[in-house]
Parts: sequence; structure tokens; C-alpha cells
Amino acid sequence: MQEHLRVGIIGAGVLGNALGRLFSQHGYRIVAVASRRLPSARALAQVVDAEAVPAPVQVATGADLILLTLPDDQVAPVVADIARAGGFRPGQSVVHTSGALDLNVLAPAAERGAWTGSLHPFQSAADPDQAVRTLPGSAFGVEAAEPLRGILESIVLRVGGRPLRVTGEMKALYHVAAALASNGAVALFAAAADLLERAGIPPADSRQALLALLGGTLENLSRLGLPRALTGPIARGDEGTVIRHLRALARWAPDLTGLYCELGRTMVALAVEKGSLDGDGAKRILQALSDAEAATCA
Ligand SMILES: NC(=O)c1ccc[n+]([C@@H]2O[C@H](COP(=O)([O-])OP(=O)(O)OC[C@H]3O[C@@H](n4cnc5c(N)ncnc54)[C@H](OP(=O)(O)O)[C@@H]3O)[C@@H](O)[C@H]2O)c1
Repeated sequence: MQEHLRVGIIGAGVLGNALGRLFSQHGYRIVAVASRRLPSARALAQVVDAEAVPAPVQVATGADLILLTLPDDQVAPVVADIARAGGFRPGQSVVHTSGALDLNVLAPAAERGAWTGSLHPFQSAADPDQAVRTLPGSAFGVEAAEPLRGILESIVLRVGGRPLRVTGEMKALYHVAAALASNGAVALFAAAADLLERAGIPPADSRQALLALLGGTLENLSRLGLPRALTGPIARGDEGTVIRHLRALARWAPDLTGLYCELGRTMVALAVEKGSLDGDGAKRILQALSDAEAATCA
């Protein structure tokens, strides 16, 4: 139904390339691409059969739906430039892809009668090829008023994604969830790899071991959900093992004690919910975690 939409892309980076290719594959017409560097715009324009233009305002004037796939900090200045140059008009849709910014950043477009919204892939896009594969099947946070919300939701469904409605007030909190699950998992992987290295395991072996472990964990999460996917000493109520962990950390990696204890408290809550840890066991483990933190800080 929206094949007639003329889509313009500003910002030919990872997400601009991925969304441009995905939209194009699903029948949307990309008419123009601009980026900071013209060669980046040209490279994407060639793939999606669009025109590469040197200035963002040239994308805006010829498009019905403008996708701003820019670094977060560049959205406001680029929107202000386009507004000054007269690129926005009533009935046009102006959409950014940031998970953290709300719609205030698009106010200059709204003041000129455009509909404003955001379309945030709830996915980690490291490069365009990978993102084109993973975005179908991913959730997309959609923030917009009608009629743009309906348009964005139907685009998401058409490219194989699942729309999530987000409000501006809760946008930052919603984005913390994405950052914790994705960036937090990468940081946890790095901490675990560091511990294995301190334990004398060669990096190549530790990488394989951790990837297989994470793969199994993801499968458990997908198959069993929360809280049943939680395994390990806290889930079993193995207080002695938790204390051995804390002693090992105190001796070999005290810098990671805080992280272990913080996550441990969440595990205790999950284990109680799962029914595999009783109230007394939970109290003893929580006390051991607090004592270890206090000893590390002393
Ligand atoms: N990557 C992800 O995992 C992901 C996931 C969800 C949402 N997002 C959001 O998507 C947006 C883009 O992220 P990204 O990862 O695609 O970033 P990116 O790879 O850094 O791409 C942004 C592109 O914007 C261009 N650019 C920078 N300043 C510009 C300006 N003033 N005018 C025009 N073009 C400019 C740059 O292109 P040149 O090559 O021309 O310099 C750059 O390649 C961000 O809001 C981000 O929060 C990203």
C-alpha cells in the first residue's frame, strides 16, 4: 500500500545502509541519499537505485518519508539546517532512528507541518550485511502519533520486524533495556574472558568456551524463559560455591567483586521466584554478597 512513498535517507552509515537495502528489497522506493561524505551517499544510492545528493535538504525536498540515520548528536543540527533551508513541508514524515532521543529533536520539522516519529531497531547492527540479515525478526521501537505511527508499524511488519510502541517519556528507559541486554552482554563477555585469562586459559580457547556457553544460555532463555533459564550455584542454593567464588575473586580479581555481587542479587531474586532457593538461603547468600563487597571496599 505504501510502495508509492518516496523515501529519502540522510546518513549512509551502518543503519542507513541496512534500512535502505531492506526497504528497497521490500518494495519501497528510495529516491535520494545524503551523507556527510558524498562517496558514502553514492555507495548506498548505487545499491538502492537512488540519487546521491550533496546536501540533506535536497533529500528532504524530494521525499515523503525522510529517514535520519545519523549519529544521535547530529540529528538536531541537521534538522535545524534543513528547516532553515525550507526543506520540510506539511504532510511529509520525518523519522529518526535513535533509541535514546525523543521527538523534541525533530521540533523544527513539526513546526513546519511535518509528521515526526522515531523508528528504532531493537537490534545491534555492527555492519550492514549482518543487519540486513538480523533486522527481519527483530523488534522496532516506534514512537509517533497517528497517522505516522500506523505507517511506521506497517513498514516494520512488511520488512519482517515486530513493532513495539514507545512513548517519549519512557524512551530513555526503553533504551537502557536495549543497552543492558546487548552492550551489557558484550561487557560481561569481556569480563568473563578476562577471568579465564587470569585462570590461565588461552584466549582462543576461552572465546570458544564462552560462545558455546552463551549459545546454550540463549537457547535456555528462548525455550524456558524467566526464571527457569537461570542455572548455577545461586539458582541451586549452593551457598558454599558462592563463597568459594567470592574468595577467588578477592584473591585474583577483586575489581570484579562488585559486578558479581550486583548480578548475584538479581540472580537471588530470580532463584526465589523459580522456587529453587528458599527465603533463608536467599538471606545467607545476600549477606555473603554484602560482606564481600564491604571487604573489597575496606
Ligand atoms: N548501529 C546500531 O546498532 C543501531 C541500532 C539502533 C539504532 N541505531 C541508531 O541509528 C543511528 C545511526 O547509527 P549507525 O550505527 O548507523 O551510525 P554510523 O554507522 O556512525 O552512521 C551514521 C552516518 O551518518 C553520517 N553522518 C555523520 N554526520 C553527518 C552529518 N552531519 N550529515 C550527514 N551525514 C552525517 C556518517 O556518514 P559518512 O560516511 O558520510 O561520514 C555516518 O556514517 C543512531 O541514531 C543510532 O542511535 C543504531
